[in-house]
Amino acid sequence: MGSGLSFPTVPLTKDKVVVVTGGNTGIGYETAKWIAMYGAHVIIACRSEERATKAIERMNQEFAEEKARGTEGLMKENSLDVHFMKLDCASLKSTREFIETFKQKESKLHLLLLNAGIAMHEQEYTDDGYELMFQVNYLSHFLITSKLLPIMRESGEDCRIVLVSSDAHLVSSFDMDKIQGKQYTKANFSRMTYYGNSKLYQIMQMYSLNKKLHNTNVTVNCIHPGIVETEISRSFSDLQRWKVFFRMTKLFGGTKTPFEGAKTLINAAINPKYKDLRNAYHTNCKPSTSNRLSRNEHYQDQLWEYTLGCLKEYLTEEDIQKLQ
Ligand SMILES: NC(=O)c1ccc[n+]([C@@H]2O[C@H](COP(=O)([O-])OP(=O)(O)OC[C@H]3O[C@@H](n4cnc5c(N)ncnc54)[C@H](OP(=O)(O)O)[C@@H]3O)[C@@H](O)[C@H]2O)c1
Repeated sequence: MGSGLSFPTVPLTKDKVVVVTGGNTGIGYETAKWIAMYGAHVIIACRSEERATKAIERMNQEFAEEKARGTEGLMKENSLDVHFMKLDCASLKSTREFIETFKQKESKLHLLLLNAGIAMHEQEYTDDGYELMFQVNYLSHFLITSKLLPIMRESGEDCRIVLVSSDAHLVSSFDMDKIQGKQYTKANFSRMTYYGNSKLYQIMQMYSLNKKLHNTNVTVNCIHPGIVETEISRSFSDLQRWKVFFRMTKLFGGTKTPFEGAKTLINAAINPKYKDLRNAYHTNCKPSTSNRLSRNEHYQDQLWEYTLGCLKEYLTEEDIQKLQ
């Protein structure tokens, strides 16, 4: 008998609606698959339909293998309830279209797992005018959260938002004048700092949201998955020193498989123990705390106002009112 996850899970049935952004590979893939294997209705919000379709096929094959192994806790049905919805986090228009599609098809949302991301990308700006990692990792997820929160508020008890952040926030800096890094050239733009910054902003958003959601059915938490062997290195494959860092970390047993990395996210999302937990930064499947900079309330407020400004064409007065 296989053991599956090594922690208890809340009951997961087809009426439990889950969104995993970037669910076609890596940490998001494993998270979507396991939550679906336990019985939930899962939407993977991805930029490529082809990659998502292949991922869903693979999830179903692996589900059959887990069943054959006798893994505990899996649902009785033979086919996973996983579906693709188009989302390109590098485009606010695509993000808005995803939100509209979701609202047309679904009336509830219980788990919003904000995982899609890119790391240490070279300096690049989106068509919306924002630094790429800022928009993909943070801004688009902020828009999704703002628009889907009202649905979550009406979806019954124990609804959770989990943001996949990173220990890269430990090397971040907070400077509103440099938030888009436009004063830098490609040569002196610090890819690590701007990746860390995007992950810092996610944590700051968690603190700001929890202040507003205090005493509601929706909690917000963050996770760091560890150093995980996924496709994340695609965006920094030209940086030799990071390749060496990954190789050395692997050599000394410091890396995780996608499943091991996903466990921290799955645990934060469905372990009943964390029903009312807020403001945690989970690492290695345990709640911990983020750094001092991320807890600075003055900076959190500055970032919140700035973000609302970035999204002024996308958020109505009513959306903003609902966020207060
Ligand atoms: N791996 C690590 O060591 C590590 C450490 C700390 C934090 N994290 C965080 O973990 C999260 C998941 O990363 P991973 O390691 O699983 O990497 P991954 O294997 O590269 O997966 C990233 C996912 O994000 C999606 N994505 C990228 N850009 C997107 C966009 N513009 N719109 C929509 N989706 C997009 C990717 O889709 P495509 O397949 O279409 O590109 C993919 O599904 C990220 O937020 C990352 O920052 C990872």
